[in-house]
Amino acid sequence: MEVIIKPDPEAVSKEAAALFQRQLALKSTSVLGLATGSTPLGFYRELVRRHRDGHVDFAHATTFNLDEYVGLSGDHPMSYRAFMREHLFAQVNMRPDHVHLPDGQTEDIPVHCEDYEDEIRHAGGIDLQLLGIGSDGHIGFNEPSSSLSSRTRLKTLTPRTIADNARFFGSEADVPRHVITMGVGTIMEARQVIVLAMGAGKATAVAAMVEGAITASVPASILQMHPKCALIIDEAAATQLQRADYYRWVYDHKPHWQRP
Ligand code: PGA
Repeated sequence: MEVIIKPDPEAVSKEAAALFQRQLALKSTSVLGLATGSTPLGFYRELVRRHRDGHVDFAHATTFNLDEYVGLSGDHPMSYRAFMREHLFAQVNMRPDHVHLPDGQTEDIPVHCEDYEDEIRHAGGIDLQLLGIGSDGHIGFNEPSSSLSSRTRLKTLTPRTIADNARFFGSEADVPRHVITMGVGTIMEARQVIVLAMGAGKATAVAAMVEGAITASVPASILQMHPKCALIIDEAAATQLQRADYYRWVYDHKPHWQRP
């Protein structure tokens, strides 16, 4: 895994946006895996800016989001569909019929999850997947103890994730208990993965992900097995990494042709 430590969240967002810009420049029909939450907000702002400046074109791209709350319609302000519309899709030239998120109001969750997997497969698989990491080490909404080969399915949020996300809903009681999320196995099939993390609250999870044992107790740790995964973090999220200086050294000596 490549670990890139940037001075601040803004630099993290810019590095990630540069990687997405390069991906779309190399392959205009890229299939992008997208994430929601606080972490990618600056990244989406930067992508929109680059789109407005004429550097990023979404006309031929396809997107699949990681997850959605069960019970919320796409019009609910806290739904991830609404989040994506506000922060990216309404501001760039994405074709609405190329946008995919799980449907939180589906009547048959198992069938819908299988269909979601089929749609990813039929689109040719995900070229570049963006991820955040939960303070408990989750990716998507694959909470600790999730099968490391799981597929898209229903998950129950941990009380910790409900507490973490209560800030979006106003109170813990209003946070849905269930979600539909791509599985860990689904995420691992993406050809390239970029994980973003910022702030001291993520430092423990980041260290466990990068330098701990591979375990379902820290679902993000399976990314140690991914052949092309970059973790881009700020200094605050890097404080518990044992080999932080080595990661900086590697980045400083990265060959020119490997840089976005
Ligand atoms: P956050 O969530 O970006 O809101 O911190 C990250 C995640 O849960 O994956």
